[in-house]
Order: sequence, then structure tokens, then C-alpha cells
Amino acid sequence: MKTSLAAIGSYTPEKILTNADFEKMVDTSDEWIRTRSGIRERHIAADDQATSDLSVIASKRALEAAHLSPKHVQAIIVATATPDMLFPSTACLVQTRIGAPHVISFDISAGCTGFLYGLAIAESLVKSGYDNILVIGADTLSKITDYTDRTTCVLFGDGAGAALIKRTELEDCILSSYFAADGSSWQLLQQPGGGSRIPASHDSVDKRLHYIKMQGNEVFKLAVRAMSEAALKTLKKASISTSQIDLLIPHQANIRIIEASAKRLHIPAEKVLVNLDRYGNTSAASIPIALDQAIREGRAKKGDLILMIAFGAGFTWGGVLLRY
Ligand code: ACO
Repeated sequence: MKTSLAAIGSYTPEKILTNADFEKMVDTSDEWIRTRSGIRERHIAADDQATSDLSVIASKRALEAAHLSPKHVQAIIVATATPDMLFPSTACLVQTRIGAPHVISFDISAGCTGFLYGLAIAESLVKSGYDNILVIGADTLSKITDYTDRTTCVLFGDGAGAALIKRTELEDCILSSYFAADGSSWQLLQQPGGGSRIPASHDSVDKRLHYIKMQGNEVFKLAVRAMSEAALKTLKKASISTSQIDLLIPHQANIRIIEASAKRLHIPAEKVLVNLDRYGNTSAASIPIALDQAIREGRAKKGDLILMIAFGAGFTWGGVLLRY
């Protein structure tokens, strides 16, 4: 059985926070944020919007684009670091809200690489007989961002992207993939509080342990190396060279990480999709939002070779080579 990408949909909340807004909140400047990260603005979920709400809208858009009733969905995978609750899974909430039948539904936790991990799992499900799988990358990092910490708060935005993966007799859309993880540096990017290590308590809240903690400059170095490795290993598995790639869609964390990775890979800027200036780092949502944009704007055309690479909390990293 072969895998095809039938459709993709995405959603970002209406509220926008600009760099000028952050100048009023913390000791920062538009100039610092733009030059150090490439970000100008990001979309932020409303108080009553959680990750499943964004996921449901993105999923409905993907199903509409594929002209498929939710009744035909056979599996739902949500990649997220910000589930509505620790349990039940966000995927179960999406299953009931979109009106899918009682199908296999589960979340995966792989940070910003989660959507790509999800695509690989969907490919395995297709090979074991499943059809019409929703792979959703969705995060509302604003809910766990400390808006008094200038080193992290300017970076993150919220959003969701959903891909509908179908079974086909024709050509496989996933030509190759590569995945890795290394937990030895987990401390560099974490949300310490709220799990079984440090359960929620007055003390944990007073110490602000439920917010993202990141040593950005250390993460930066690991990210450039890992994204390049992911690209080269994914391409090698398919015997494709970097010059054959039509479009590179990297995880949108920092313009300097993207540029450094593209430079190492000798991929010219015009073949690299960048939208983090408008969305910031939307974690697991960043690649499906960018892929949706590429397709809608005609930057990804039928038959194109699209390389997607990501790096995220864990640390996890990986790549997927797609023939659109
Ligand atoms: N405004 C002004 N100054 C700031 C700000 C800010 N918002 N934030 C930090 N600074 C200061 C620091 O305090 C530091 O000051 P000092 O030299 O007086 O100590 C100085 O700027 C430089 O700080 P660095 O952290 O070294 O800055 P850097 O150039 O590394 O940029 C950044 C920081 C943007 C966070 C970058 O390191 C980065 O993007 N890291 C990677 C993030 C990432 O890829 N995450 C991966 C996945 S995310 C996920 O999985 C959810």
C-alpha cells in the first residue's frame, strides 16, 4: 500500500502580537527581535481557545479541501506539546468534535518535530491497512509562555495544521524519512512543572515552573547541526541530491537557524519557505502551516520534491521527503 497527501488545512488565531506590543511588555526592541529571530508578529489563541479548538478548525479545512466526510476518517494523530489537558488526549477531543467514528486516536509528544513523526506513523498505519488518517500538528505555546521572560516570550505563536493522508495504488508521496532523538540535553528546553516529576502545587506555581524554560543559545547550536543532519540523511535514503529539491520547508524557529541550515546544504534562499516573520515559532504546527501556505500560494506544485526538516524539545529531529 502506498501513501498520498490528499489535502491540508491550517488555522491561526485572529489575535496578533507585534514586536511593538512586546516593547511595552518587557525590556526588548523590535530591532533585537527581528535581527536575532526574524520574527515580526505572531498569532495568539484567545483565552477560551485551546489546542483542540485550533485542531478542529484545521481538520475541518483539510476534510473540506479533500471533499471527504469525517465519517470516513480512520485514524487521528495529534502532535502537540500543549494538549488541552494531560489526559484525555487532544486527539480524542478532536475525534468527537469533528464527528469521526470511534477510530484510533492518540497524541504524540515530539516537540516541534511532532508533525513529521506523525506523518511517519500515518505511513505505517497505511501499510497496515488504514485509510484517511488525519495528522495534526497543533500547539498553543502562548498558554505556557512566561510573558515576563524576554528570552522566550517574543519567540512563540499559536496555530494548527492538519494533513489528510490517504491510501493509494499510485505513487508514494513519502519518498524517504529519517528520525532521531537524544534525551541527554533535555534540560535545555522544558516545561518543568505540572507533570509527575513536579506536580502542580502552590509552590510550583509561585516558582513559575509551568512555563517554558529554554537556554536559547545552546539550543541554537544543536538545532543547526540536527536540521542539516536530518536533511542529508533523509535525502540519502532516497538517493536525491540537495540540488534536486524544489522546496525546503524547515521548522520555523529562528531565521538564523534556517539560513545557517540552508547554507550548509547549499540550498538557495528562493527554494526555502520562510513565514516565521508572521507566525513566530508555532512548534508542531509550523511545518503543516507552511506546507498549507506553499500549496495555496502555488509555491508547491504537483510533482515537486519538498523536503521538510525539524528539530524540537526532547531533543528530537527528523526529515520527510515528499513528492507532492
Ligand atoms: N530582547 C532584548 N535582549 C534580549 C532578549 C530580548 N527579547 N532576549 C535575550 N536578550 C539578551 C540576553 O539577555 C543576552 O544579554 P547579555 O549578553 O547581556 O546576557 C543577549 O540578548 C544575547 O542572548 P542570547 O540568548 O545569546 O541570544 P541569541 O543570539 O542566542 O538569540 C534566541 C536568542 C533568539 C532565543 C536564539 O538563541 C534561538 O532562536 N534559539 C533556538 C530556539 C529554538 O530553535 N528552539 C527549538 C525548538 S523550540 C520548541 O521545540 C518549542
